[in-house]
Amino acid sequence: MKKLLLVLFALALLPASCSKRSTKIQYMPDMADSPAVKAHESYLERPEGAVTSNALYYPATPAGASAILKNPLRGAPVTDEILAKGQWAFETYCAVCHGPQGKGDHSLSKEYPLVPPNITTDTYSKYTDGELYYRITFGWANMPGYGDKITDEERWPLVLYLRKLQGKL
Ligand code: HEC
Repeated sequence: MKKLLLVLFALALLPASCSKRSTKIQYMPDMADSPAVKAHESYLERPEGAVTSNALYYPATPAGASAILKNPLRGAPVTDEILAKGQWAFETYCAVCHGPQGKGDHSLSKEYPLVPPNITTDTYSKYTDGELYYRITFGWANMPGYGDKITDEERWPLVLYLRKLQGKL
């Protein structure tokens, strides 16, 4: 009985192994035929001359930022929606040190050994949008940078909200 089963099993396999098909079906070829990556190489290496289309190029200094970085939201009227975005970012990331109105008077500012300044004074309202954007992105002296936490799209509304707190909008 066992032998018979074995023969039947072998016969069942026969058509598959003797098939004339020259190309075999390959399941998930990407996994089997993935390009080989050697040590110290990367899949992600860009072809020579390619430029990242969504890269942001930052100037090296605040003065450079002042000259080069222009607020893209300045062309049109500043809407409540834009200000609401800025307010959200300010209250989420900045108010903890600079206070809800930016006057450096939040409770944490009493505990924090490095006093966060009142950023609504003339000193700071004279900064250009580009310069404020730059300070938010990279921080300044004792102030931490927020470039990795606040996206580019959120930073410009934040600059405008700062202007509102400064009474310049
Ligand atoms: C951890 C506390 C802290 C947080 C959070 C913080 N700041 Fe500051 N900020 C400081 C301190 C401290 C300074 C003073 C820096 C110095 O001169 O040493 C400062 C300085 C500044 C200045 C003036 C920079 C200059 O040129 O002197 C601006 C503008 C500013 N902060 C904006 C912001 C904004 C906008 C946010 C939110 C994205 C923010 N800060 C979040 C602590 C903080």
